Amino acid sequence: MLKRIADELAQRPRRWLVTGSAGFIGSNLLETLLRAGQQVVSLDSFATGHQRNLDEVRALVGEAAWARHRFIEGDIADPEVCRRACEGAEVVLHQAALGSVPRSIKDPFTTHRANATGFLAMLIAAKDAGVKRFVYAASSSTYGDSPTLPKVEDVIGRPLSPYAVTKYLNELYADVFGRCYGLPTIGLRYFNVFGARQDPDGAYAAVIPRWVDAMLAGRTCTINGDGETSRDFCYVANAVQANLLAAIADDAQAIGQVYNVAFGQRTTLTALHGLIAEALRQRRPGFTVAAPQYAGFREGDVRHSLADVGKAQRLLGYQPSHDVRAGLSEAVGWYIDHAAA
Ligand SMILES: NC(=O)c1ccc[n+]([C@@H]2O[C@H](COP(=O)([O-])OP(=O)(O)OC[C@H]3O[C@@H](n4cnc5c(N)ncnc54)[C@H](O)[C@@H]3O)[C@@H](O)[C@H]2O)c1
Repeated sequence: MLKRIADELAQRPRRWLVTGSAGFIGSNLLETLLRAGQQVVSLDSFATGHQRNLDEVRALVGEAAWARHRFIEGDIADPEVCRRACEGAEVVLHQAALGSVPRSIKDPFTTHRANATGFLAMLIAAKDAGVKRFVYAASSSTYGDSPTLPKVEDVIGRPLSPYAVTKYLNELYADVFGRCYGLPTIGLRYFNVFGARQDPDGAYAAVIPRWVDAMLAGRTCTINGDGETSRDFCYVANAVQANLLAAIADDAQAIGQVYNVAFGQRTTLTALHGLIAEALRQRRPGFTVAAPQYAGFREGDVRHSLADVGKAQRLLGYQPSHDVRAGLSEAVGWYIDHAAA
């Protein structure tokens, strides 16, 4: 953690609400906040998250820290659940949503309910509770069909999926809640976040956990498209840092904004396959990985993605600590331990 964040949290502990805490990014936020001595309420419906993630955080932080946490099982599309969760919270880190572009194409209604209706319910509850800062997970999918590279926050295209519509809607609602009700919001447009506790299972798993899992099981990985599709893969420690910086930012110019959260480097899918294999070989010398096979392009996927992280650097003091190689080197350790368990 950046020293500036650690000092600030130590000097002035806050009462936090983390939504989506049984999921990947939410559980990493919960772990960091509890380690930093904070009081945390967290909320999840287990729609895609798991009790095992909460159990792991508990084991990692220890019982004394865990005693500063209260978990609420509930659905963010239920206004009463949101009201209960926001009671007494100073900072909300809103992560709960249904991820995955293909899931949203298959079932736009369910994605809308969690990501749009649930988001609105959370904003209303945060406003009514007098929350001081509402930081939320936005998405690089908002860049849609814009060909501009690198992506800068104020140049977006048309959304390419129902998921992207919901994430853009989040930004519009957050902006309006700032204007109409004075709710201080900050949106973080995550670019392909990866790390410990990201789910490798299921039809909608993200590429890195899916491939690490496949390689560890000796299966061949499938690349959608020609392998030249590229992404700005962002290690979860960078996303956690951005959330905490957004939570403590006190410069008025920094509030009511959206920020790219990434490392600021583009990796093709073919290169990613090689980097994961390399990270696994570092841990298990001699480990062999089969060459990937190539399949058709996926509907709704953007071709290239690369973030300009200058705005987050300037206004929040964001300094991503891990590039994709450093992030993979840490992340594969978690997958190896959990595959063996
Ligand atoms: N992981 C990424 O690369 C990435 C990229 C862009 C944006 N995001 C956004 O970041 C956030 C966190 O993503 P993640 O990767 O940790 O996903 P995740 O699926 O691991 O976590 C999301 C959590 O939200 C919970 N949830 C879903 N619907 C809910 C509901 N109606 N009520 C209460 N809880 C609910 C799930 O059970 C899950 O635990 C999401 O908003 C996602 O859209 C993630």
